[in-house]
Amino acid sequence: MASKLTKSIAIIAGAGPGTGASIARRFAQTYPVVLLARRASSLDPLVEQITQAGGTAIGIPADVTQPGAMESTMQQLERQYGRDHFTVAAAVFNVASKFSRSAFLDSGEEFLASLEATARGASNFSKAVLPFLLRAVEEGPQGQLPPTLVFTGATASLKGGSGLGSFAMSKFAVRALAQSLAREFGPKGVHVAHAIIDGIIATEQTKEYLADKPDAKIDPDWIAEAYWFLHSQPRSSFTHELDLRPYCETW
Ligand SMILES: NC(=O)c1ccc[n+]([C@@H]2O[C@H](COP(=O)([O-])OP(=O)(O)OC[C@H]3O[C@@H](n4cnc5c(N)ncnc54)[C@H](OP(=O)(O)O)[C@@H]3O)[C@@H](O)[C@H]2O)c1
Repeated sequence: MASKLTKSIAIIAGAGPGTGASIARRFAQTYPVVLLARRASSLDPLVEQITQAGGTAIGIPADVTQPGAMESTMQQLERQYGRDHFTVAAAVFNVASKFSRSAFLDSGEEFLASLEATARGASNFSKAVLPFLLRAVEEGPQGQLPPTLVFTGATASLKGGSGLGSFAMSKFAVRALAQSLAREFGPKGVHVAHAIIDGIIATEQTKEYLADKPDAKIDPDWIAEAYWFLHSQPRSSFTHELDLRPYCETW
């Protein structure tokens, strides 16, 4: 047990205005948060909002599917906090891959693009953050919550759907990675969890859907609360997978 280490941070890939923002705000109540998305315009308002609320947030534009993007992100954090002077307490892979329905026989090269993007993104992200989650196990502050890696899934993590082959393959891939990492890193003290978000999330983008039916969409703040619950579990009692759905969802 050391403790020249000074900072425990949370890092969220896919820090968009919907679920990503809710997760960021929740984890910022306890940790400095590092927010990743491709566009600075996705990050800047959220960084400002968290800062104004008294938290600490850094936004780093990064396309997690690109080779080297995660490496340079972690190098930037080493410059920010000092090499060997920070651990990752919680990491969330929340990247939204393209959701679209299209007829399989009409699809072209783009059919595999979603799988490639998400599988590669989740893998790059995990490879970059796991050494820092393991470092938290070894050298984090006494009494810390178990270092946690959470992946955001969807209905399509478990079920394919007509015209949804591309999206479902990408979500299946993330679930397969999460399950494998849980079995590999759980015994080392890292809590790896996968969340099946089984329904429409109430975001600006989905405001037209089910507009006249109260509570028919999932509140992203409650997704964030569920992720905090996962993070707060002691290592004697890890949940690997949870699902969340509105009361009226057919499943
Ligand atoms: N929306 C729903 O109804 C729904 C339902 C079930 C499950 N989900 C899942 O929930 C998660 C969050 O969805 P959300 O709609 O609420 O989105 P969100 O959290 O508001 O935003 C996700 C962000 O991911 C970022 N992103 C996309 N590709 C990226 C990449 N290659 N590298 C880094 N960042 C990237 C995008 O920002 P940039 O464009 O700036 O990169 C986007 O703003 C996703 O995993 C989604 O599949 C969503």
